[in-house]
Amino acid sequence: MDIKVEINKLKKEKNAVVLAHCYQPVEIDEVADFVGDSLYLSKMASTTNADIIIFAGVHFMAQSAKLLNPEKKVLLPNMNSGCYMADMINVNQLREFKKEFPNIPVVCYINSTAEVKAESDICCTSSNAIQVVESLGVPEVLFVPDTYLGKWVEHKLGNIKVHTYNGFCPTHLRIRTEDIEDARKKYPDAIILTHPECNKDVCELSDFVGSTKEIMDYAVSSKSKQFVVATEKGVVDRLNRDSILNDWGKEFILIKENITCQNMKCNSLEDIYNSLIYEQHEVNVDTKVFYDAKKCVEKMFDALKIGCLK
Ligand code: 13P
Ligand code: SF4
Repeated sequence: MDIKVEINKLKKEKNAVVLAHCYQPVEIDEVADFVGDSLYLSKMASTTNADIIIFAGVHFMAQSAKLLNPEKKVLLPNMNSGCYMADMINVNQLREFKKEFPNIPVVCYINSTAEVKAESDICCTSSNAIQVVESLGVPEVLFVPDTYLGKWVEHKLGNIKVHTYNGFCPTHLRIRTEDIEDARKKYPDAIILTHPECNKDVCELSDFVGSTKEIMDYAVSSKSKQFVVATEKGVVDRLNRDSILNDWGKEFILIKENITCQNMKCNSLEDIYNSLIYEQHEVNVDTKVFYDAKKCVEKMFDALKIGCLK
């Protein structure tokens, strides 16, 4: 059987859509309706008319899709797809953190559980963290769980104190300043593009720092022909594929071997097929936290005036 043909048939029969994050194995794009970063996929999740959403990504992304689509069935193809960073803070740890800094609004990165979102004031993604923090109009914020994204926001804004929790992404932290220095020597003409989950010194040595989508947009519009990419390998795979397909003549080089998120790579075409056939593994959000977590995500859209929420 041709698994891609079967998946596409099942999608039609069941009125299902497949949302795929750019860190997924690249062949998943061939059955995906939408491919992008976490902000784009949240927007798509909030506007789809499908009855079933298959989220080829990690657990917190599927949970966010559920928050935006309470009436739809949201399925995660492989239940092993967690996010190390999201699991670094639970609601009790957040409450302790809040006690240390009373009366300061909490901005939580979308890479967090629904329970943590419910206990936070507003959510953000890596695409909009700077605008979300700025939109609050306050001199200080708490930022959870990613200390590096939080510190990057503080550095970019300059006039807002960002107290960060000590979470991090193990995949992005593998990228060191020496890797950037080596890349400069080896590829002196290349532009270095970096995700803000990397540490601040790595970001400061890079030519451009942005979310997954910002990195991809930059690469597409830039006149340069060679790029070193300091983020998850899936981004590099997609850019090289698109360069060949569209005849860009551009080369994308991963900063170093094995910058892969194992959790993101859990999902396979077989998992998506099984997910559609058996309607597994359904992602739900505890009713006790549903309303507050949803509000936290909706506030992000309100702050950015995207206005795509029901
Ligand atoms: P994006 O918001 O850029 O999609 O990043 C999500 C993520 O998990 C990065 O590690
Ligand atoms: Fe989480 Fe890091 Fe994987 Fe992103 S790359 S999903 S932050 S573990």
